[in-house]
Amino acid sequence: MQVLDWDRALTLLSPHNYALLSTQEASGRSNLMGLGWWTIVSWSPPQVVVSVGQGQHSRHCLDEVPEFVLNFPSVSQAKGAWLCGTVSGRDGDKFQMAGFKPLASTQVRPPRVDGCTVAFECRVSQRLVTGDHVLYLADIVAISGNPDAPMHLYSIHYNKLVGLDSELNVTDAPGRE
Ligand SMILES: Cc1cc2nc3c(=O)[nH]c(=O)nc-3n(C[C@H](O)[C@H](O)[C@H](O)COP(=O)(O)O)c2cc1C
Repeated sequence: MQVLDWDRALTLLSPHNYALLSTQEASGRSNLMGLGWWTIVSWSPPQVVVSVGQGQHSRHCLDEVPEFVLNFPSVSQAKGAWLCGTVSGRDGDKFQMAGFKPLASTQVRPPRVDGCTVAFECRVSQRLVTGDHVLYLADIVAISGNPDAPMHLYSIHYNKLVGLDSELNVTDAPGRE
């Protein structure tokens, strides 16, 4: 065993299940953000936690409208999914920039991303400030998806996205390496 720094450890314990966090401002303008730090935290009722950086535009949206959709992009959406993790919604409409079609949600205000493998519509019940992030605990209030869509994406730390096919072979997708 050797001493590891934080970045090296996060790379070694990758991949993380990569999601697109769909949120909305009070004005009705929606946003999308790449998210690796999320997890399921309750079976019944189904609940998730998402961890959003204090400075993210998405954090501002969640504090205005405490609802979100966790969309799981398929490997065919890798290019747009990467853009959502590298550009801020303050600088433009990421649905448009990423080439994603917004699909009205059934229970919450932020839209779903058309073509994703799975979408969890969520309503925030609790907020907790951690070091430099904010955790949002939320109930999953609707689940939809495309069972035939290609496998979804995983992130290797903040460096790149990969798809794991049914035989667990890693396929490179856009990244900064
Ligand atoms: C692979 C990957 C994973 C990411 N995971 C998170 C995360 O869990 N939480 C977070 O706040 N930002 C995360 N980010 C960074 C945001 O997606 C990025 O800063 C984005 O531009 C913020 O958009 P916004 O300002 O529109 O909210 C991740 C980025 C990448 C590329």
